[in-house]
Amino acid sequence: MPYRIDIVDPPPDAVDTLLELGALDIAAEGATLAAILPDSVPAECFAAYRAIISPAVARDCGSVWMLAPRPICIAGLLITPPQDAAPDALRLLDSGAFGSGHHPTTALCVEGIRDALGDEPVNRLLDVGTGSAILALAALRMGVAHATALDIDPSALETAAHNARLNQLENRLQLVAGGVGDISGTWPLVVANILAAPLIEMAPVLARRLSSRGRLILSGITDTLEAEVRQAYRHVGIEHRETRSRQGWVAVCLQTTW
Ligand SMILES: C[S@@+](CC[C@H](N)C(=O)[O-])C[C@H]1O[C@@H](n2cnc3c(N)ncnc32)[C@H](O)[C@@H]1O
Repeated sequence: MPYRIDIVDPPPDAVDTLLELGALDIAAEGATLAAILPDSVPAECFAAYRAIISPAVARDCGSVWMLAPRPICIAGLLITPPQDAAPDALRLLDSGAFGSGHHPTTALCVEGIRDALGDEPVNRLLDVGTGSAILALAALRMGVAHATALDIDPSALETAAHNARLNQLENRLQLVAGGVGDISGTWPLVVANILAAPLIEMAPVLARRLSSRGRLILSGITDTLEAEVRQAYRHVGIEHRETRSRQGWVAVCLQTTW
């Protein structure tokens, strides 16, 4: 696991050393220089420094390593930690739930939602695997009137509920414990950022949750598995419109043929 180092009164070459060693994040905090290092870097590399080593905190279920949550702007929407008071920002709790905005799949989905709404606005969205509720809340901020969000992880749903209240969006977000087989109804726009294997498995069930000419944004898919996911959805009458990719991940935008 990556670890955190806090170097007290760092020498002038400390940043160069951290960069050379492949630091995942670096920030000056007063007289201290903090960094996250991959576990392949032995802590003995810092024997000459006055340094404190401690476990690093992971975001997005161990896939994003940041010293502290920081704002990010995706598709024109500013996403910030709760204490940042930017008026139009979407504020998110720092939690164990996936969905900080710093993972490429989340960003690709937010961009996909923005583009889908730009093509044709919709009033309702279904978010399958909501995590922090970032996608559902972003859609509400972008003008969708009501979102339904599902997750099989009760702790993610607690975070999602907290984030909805934090942004005064709780009256427009319905949270449901379970998977896509646990709900009924159809939606004109559905987003699911899970992984390729469950997305392939749930294709027939997810297809039944889409309205006529309904649009579907899928991510959590590595570029090597895109073709398999697209094939599974083609088999259930959902055609490909567009793929966006970033850092080895893709988001595919699809639409029902009926
Ligand atoms: C990669 S996270 C995505 C979180 C957020 N939607 C985002 O885009 O950042 C996937 C989430 O899906 C949930 N999940 C996994 N399999 C699921 C399933 N079959 N049905 C509903 N939720 C699922 C996980 O608990 C997790 O919170």
